[in-house]
Parts: sequence; structure tokens; C-alpha cells
Amino acid sequence: MKILTVIGARPQFIKACMLSRMIRSDSKMEEIIVHTGQHYDDNMSAIFFNQLKLPKPDYYLGVGSGSHGKQTGKMLMDLEKVMLLVRPDIVLLYGDTNSTLAGSLTASKLHIPIAHVESGLRSFNKSMPEEINRIVTDHLSDWLFCPSNTAIENLKREGIEKGVYLTGDIMYDAVLHFKHHALKQSSILNELSLSKNNYYLATIHRGENTDDPERLKSILEAFQKVNMEVVLPLHPRTKSKINQFNFTDFISSSSIKIVEPLHYFDMLAVASQANAILTDSGGLQKEAYMLQVPCITLRDETEWVETVMAGWNHLVGTDTQQIVNTVKALQVPKEYVPLFGDGSTSKKIVDILMKSFGEN
Ligand code: UD1
Repeated sequence: MKILTVIGARPQFIKACMLSRMIRSDSKMEEIIVHTGQHYDDNMSAIFFNQLKLPKPDYYLGVGSGSHGKQTGKMLMDLEKVMLLVRPDIVLLYGDTNSTLAGSLTASKLHIPIAHVESGLRSFNKSMPEEINRIVTDHLSDWLFCPSNTAIENLKREGIEKGVYLTGDIMYDAVLHFKHHALKQSSILNELSLSKNNYYLATIHRGENTDDPERLKSILEAFQKVNMEVVLPLHPRTKSKINQFNFTDFISSSSIKIVEPLHYFDMLAVASQANAILTDSGGLQKEAYMLQVPCITLRDETEWVETVMAGWNHLVGTDTQQIVNTVKALQVPKEYVPLFGDGSTSKKIVDILMKSFGEN
């Protein structure tokens, strides 16, 4: 069985690494990796391949950044060439980025079956590019691997029931696999003079927050006002918007520690020891839960509703006072139930794919 994996953005490298290992341990499966080049900086891409021992991509498309149309269009043209050349049995896609969308459109036009990992998530906000990418990809997919029951229910509501599997969350496989090693190997806590529970970790990169000066300002003001130091690894998009809006003063406060984007091990180390995590990232909301660290989500909606219902995640939006008040009132919930499976998601996916092809 020939599988063509399409990845391109930072979270996809993390999601793909565990499944790629599993695929490559089975002699009946062959994996070919295409990296679209959506993320291209070393600290957004190459370092993840090295650290996670993700095999070097067989094809690198180098599409780089640009408007959604330009970025996705370039990917479509190049992915078509690769898919025609490789003729895979399955195209394997992750998450909700423009690389996912381009992979699903190209494969479906060439009648190649699609497997979608992290299927069924919805924010119900179609102004987010990720929501469009998810909806389209789910409707074109043949295997829909869902991390949660909510995801299955979302698909059902859209009339999708065939090929839907509850597999748990692939990021949980990675957290369990790398957590202890990351804590041992990473020196980031020493380098940044951080100790357990004496700082907040924050990330912002969503277009809805970074591209709207009011929302971005409001978030940065909240970071200045909370009662502990805020460590803020700066996404390239956020950095460029802060410069464009002349907001550098907001981050020069001594209570905000700006660092470059962190690699996975450093991120796991900083996240696991934080007092709380403030973020607009989807992946980090989940990782906060998996690491049992309270999370404040700087968005108006979330795909990870179970983490909110469990009391570990607070959906707060971007109002300065609202963020500051929530941080002040934060308490660690007494109860913790595993919501994202048992860390065997990659094995479940490989088993399902093999069975579909009558290989076991
Ligand atoms: C993308 C995904 C998002 C995912 C996120 C993780 C889409 C629509 N969004 O958002 O779902 O959560 O990745 O980070 O696919 N840039 C660089 N260097 C890089 C990469 C990007 O400088 O290596 C800059 C470019 O100026 C670019 C901007 O960041 O225009 C945004 O990059 P893009 O790939 O469009 O989306 P992300 O915001 O990273």
C-alpha cells in the first residue's frame, strides 16, 4: 500500500511523526512524504524534522507564504504533478491548514482516496480559513479519523457517517512518547530562568487576532497586566504584525519575555511547567489539557469544547480585563479524565487502513 503524506505547517510535523513511524514499521506499507513548504523557516520546519526524526521529505514544493489563493494555488499545481507521478493508493492529510485543503482538492480530482487525521472539528466560524479547510477536506475524505466524540457528532450533523472512526488524538501519542525525554533534554527553563508554576506561557498566531489591531493590542495589554511573567514565543506572522502596527512598546514590558518560536521539546518543557497557558492555538489548548495545565483560550470559540466542559480550558476572547480577571481567578480543577484516547491513535489508524486494503 502506497501512502502519500502531505504536510507543510508546524503542527503537521508533530502529528505526522508518530504515524509515519508506525507506517514505516510495517513492510506492507510504503510512505512518500511531500512537504509543501508552507512553513519554511528553520525554526518552524527543519528543526522539527530533525528532532522528531521525521524522514526527509521525498518532495519539497517550496511554496512559501502569500495570500490564501496564491499559496493554495501553487500547492494545487505542484501536488497534482507529484500525485500523477507517485500514483499513491491513499493520500494522507492532517488537520486544517492550506496544505490540507490543497492535498484534499488535488487528490479528489485525481480520484485518489483520502485519509484525514484530526477530522470532524468545527469552530462554526466560517471566517476562519481553517474552518473552510476542515469542512472541504472532511467532505472529500474516505477515512475520517476523529479525535473525540464531539468530532463524530459534528460529522453526523453534516451527513457524514461512512468511513468515520473514533481513534483518539494523534498529538496525545506524541505527548506521551516525548514528554519525559523533552523535560530531560531541554535546557530552556534554565536558559530563561523559569521554574515550575512561576510563569505563564502564551502564544498568538491566528489571523483573527494578529491581523486585527484592536484585538492584538487588547491581548498584549492583558499580558502586561497579569500577575506573573509571560513567556511569549513569537510566531513570524505575529512578529510582522506587531511591527506593522507599531506595537513594539507593548511587548517591551519587563513582564513579557519574548522568545523565538520554540522547537517541540522546548515547547513541551515550557508548557508542562507553566502555571497556565494563554493561547489562540488549537494544538496548544489540547496539549495544555494533556499536560494537565489550565488553559485560557484567546478566541471567541473553540473546537476543543470538551476541555472547556471539563473545567481545564476557559474560553475568554480578547478583552483585556476579561483575560486579566480569568487569570486571577484561575484554579486547577480537582478532576482529570482522559479525553483524547490512550496514546495508541497511530496504531489504530494503521490497523484500519490495512484492514480496508485486506492486508491483515
Ligand atoms: C498556519 C495554519 C494554521 C496553523 C498554523 C501553525 C493555515 C490557513 N493556517 O497558520 O491552521 O495553526 O499554521 O503555525 O494554513 N511565516 C514565516 N515563516 C514561516 C512560516 C510563515 O515568516 O516559516 C510568516 C509569513 O509571513 C506568512 C505568515 O507567517 O505570511 C503566516 O503563515 P501561514 O502559513 O500563512 O499561516 P500560519 O499563520 O502559520
